[in-house]
Amino acid sequence: MKKILITGGAGFIGSHLVRLFVNKYTDYQIYNLDKLTYAGNLENLSDVEKKSNYHFVKGDIVDAGFINELFAEQRFDAVIHLAAESHVDRSITNPMEFIFTNVVGTVNLLNAAKETWKDDFTGKLFYHVSTDEVYGTLGDNGSFKETTPYSPHSPYSASKASSDHFVRAYHDTYGLPTLISNCSNNYGPNQFPEKLIPLFINNIKHKKKLPVYGKGINVRDWLYVEDHAAAIDTIFHNAKPGQTYNIGGNNEWKNIDLIKKLIEIVDRKLGRPAGESLELITYVTDRAGHDLRYAIDATKLKTELGWEPKVKFTEGFETTVEWYLANEKWLDNVTSGSYMDYYQKMYGNRL
Ligand code: NAD
Ligand code: DAU
Repeated sequence: MKKILITGGAGFIGSHLVRLFVNKYTDYQIYNLDKLTYAGNLENLSDVEKKSNYHFVKGDIVDAGFINELFAEQRFDAVIHLAAESHVDRSITNPMEFIFTNVVGTVNLLNAAKETWKDDFTGKLFYHVSTDEVYGTLGDNGSFKETTPYSPHSPYSASKASSDHFVRAYHDTYGLPTLISNCSNNYGPNQFPEKLIPLFINNIKHKKKLPVYGKGINVRDWLYVEDHAAAIDTIFHNAKPGQTYNIGGNNEWKNIDLIKKLIEIVDRKLGRPAGESLELITYVTDRAGHDLRYAIDATKLKTELGWEPKVKFTEGFETTVEWYLANEKWLDNVTSGSYMDYYQKMYGNRL
């Protein structure tokens, strides 16, 4: 019987990971710790909330006293840490939240794990979920390897890079058994509609302008969220402590090409004439410090642990659009209230 703490389980990737672990490992007790910020939504987990091996704890990882008490009481065997402020644009307008949650929050968890496990680290594990953005940006060629030097450009990626460094430092200094994975852009159901794909699906549906940053030439490597959850499962159960793995979709898209593909699918599914929504494309001021290209070399994960993405992009993309169109209530719930203030602040004078 293992007791596993998953942080940020009410968010996008966290909810897919919690679902996978609760359903697949019925002999584990899964504790989902989440502050329920604007990005955390328990509706994402309504299908597993009544399972006897699932437990929800509302709390803030920045609160060291609370975290220490929780660890002392529950004595988790392992931590999979996803809780974070995750949106680059928000980090540009409010970097401090990113430093508190992503850096201080991570160090609070590391301290609590170290203290709880100090007598014997055997069988214990602290798995930190991170991003490819820590590596900075690529030109037209090449891809990020685990050995690529860190070169973050946004407050978000700087905060994630800092947390990665702390995780490695706790491994090297105290012998804490840690793992890190750095993943590329995820897409799929339950992503908050501030991120490109759900935001644009929602805007196309409502015939609202599509704010394309700069010239739309930035490139991202897209991975279906369930493939990311499967990669975390594989690494969690098979990797040697102290290791780092890159996770990617081998699926690079220039933003503008991806947006045109999205328009094609949404127009088709809504029964609109082909290309009708192309006129919504609106080029706006570029994101400050906008990284040009990300691409992941996930060879290490494939050769050492046998993981590869399973979901083909065409299939995953169709499923994703269908999910947002079918889950109108979910979208309406998360885009009411403070979302409108956010949208106005972020895009009001750009569109
Ligand atoms: P998300 O924003 O959808 O979810 C983050 C979750 O963390 C939310 O449920 C939120 O309530 C919770 N949270 C935030 N601050 C907290 C705090 N102080 N205490 C407790 N809980 C708090 O994020 P996501 O896109 O699911 O990303 C999850 C993790 O994966 C992050 O660490 C992110 O850096 C990393 N990641 C994301 C992507 C991506 O494409 N989305 C890619 C690679 C890595
Ligand atoms: O690479 C992994 C990262 O992917 C994760 O660590 C982050 O948490 C996640 O948010 C994501 O970061 P990006 O900045 O790449 O994702 P976003 O969806 O914000 O933007 C994708 C691309 O689309 C990027 O080049 C910026 C552009 N964009 C985004 C928005 C929101 C636009 O052109 N217009 C927009 O309105």
